[in-house]
Amino acid sequence: MRILGIESSCDETAVAALEDAPDGVGARVLCSLVSTQIPMHRLYGGVIPELASRNHSGRLPSLLQEALEQSDCTPGDIDAFAATGGPGLVAALLVGHTAAKAIALAAGKPFVSVNHLEGHLLSPFLHRKNSAASPLPPPHVGLVVSGGHSLLLHVKGLGDYDLMGRSRDDAAGEAFDKVARMLDLPYPGGPEIDKRAERGDARRFELPRPMLHEAGFDFSFSGLKTSVLHTLAKLTPGGDPHGLDEQSLCDLCAGVRAAIVDVLVHKARLALRQTGLHLLAVSGGVSCNSSLRKRLGEMCAKEGAELLLPPPELTTDNAAMIAFAGLLHARAGEFSSLETPVDPNPQLAGFATRS
Ligand code: KG4
Ligand code: ZN
Repeated sequence: MRILGIESSCDETAVAALEDAPDGVGARVLCSLVSTQIPMHRLYGGVIPELASRNHSGRLPSLLQEALEQSDCTPGDIDAFAATGGPGLVAALLVGHTAAKAIALAAGKPFVSVNHLEGHLLSPFLHRKNSAASPLPPPHVGLVVSGGHSLLLHVKGLGDYDLMGRSRDDAAGEAFDKVARMLDLPYPGGPEIDKRAERGDARRFELPRPMLHEAGFDFSFSGLKTSVLHTLAKLTPGGDPHGLDEQSLCDLCAGVRAAIVDVLVHKARLALRQTGLHLLAVSGGVSCNSSLRKRLGEMCAKEGAELLLPPPELTTDNAAMIAFAGLLHARAGEFSSLETPVDPNPQLAGFATRS
């Protein structure tokens, strides 16, 4: 089976084509194109929804054409069309979702509406050599850490997800972005903080690790902002980040990164122990973070668990993950009606009912 996927939920316009690997288990990426709008939104310090949707609409047709050329396909050679249906910005989602429906209709092929978070969640399995020879992801703990969400899930099978924990306020990526903004670092803040943290001393500033010692798997990151604000106020007149010397900036970045990473690693460890599972799959833009990758690797080695991380190009928004999730559903015979609307806030999973 060959599938074409479109992603347009936020600030990346992306198109990818995938086909079944010869063993019928994995997938082969025929092409994966991402046109980022980040430089445009950076001028405003964050994503401007109206600009995002206009830009998707302008970029998508030529991106689609290029993707088909690179994959050496016509729409008739594609067996199904997938697109992100949510969560995301409604006007941005509508561009890719409607385009995929229209091509599916014209080509007489089925359509799959994909939950963006499921795309992230399953992305670590795209390149995995699956020894179980099953086309479906095996039971595992999934940690999705993106700009809008921080979720810890017990994945039992395709579409069978129990929510173990989530952020009660800011998502991990959002916390990076908001702190970066306070430090007058460019959007998106995660990579900027990560880069500076490499040169900093994480022990210099004591920052809170909310909910680290509380039972349960929920996170909370909003308190970090207040703490950074207080630290800034002690370091520079009026708390002006421009008054920070380079080393203090790097130390603060290292402290923020360590606080977020400590909490994520701790809760992931607890989830592995509670479920008794030995596989952790981590995804979303924040899974690109160098310290998080390293610390999760160390933790999983100690716990005797396998750690699956997507390659960096699959961590931030892309269409290969949307096409892959679409492919798994298509293989299971699960397609969407052309009347399926976009949904800015769909449920991926609910908390399991505990007896
Ligand atoms: O998954 P993603 O591309 O978009 C959403 O679905 O939200 O994630 C974007 C988020 C942003 O908050 C960005 O700051 C963060 O991922 N991010 C990082 C790194 N690279 C991207 N956060 C920490 N360290 C990084 N290296
Ligand atoms: Zn995303």
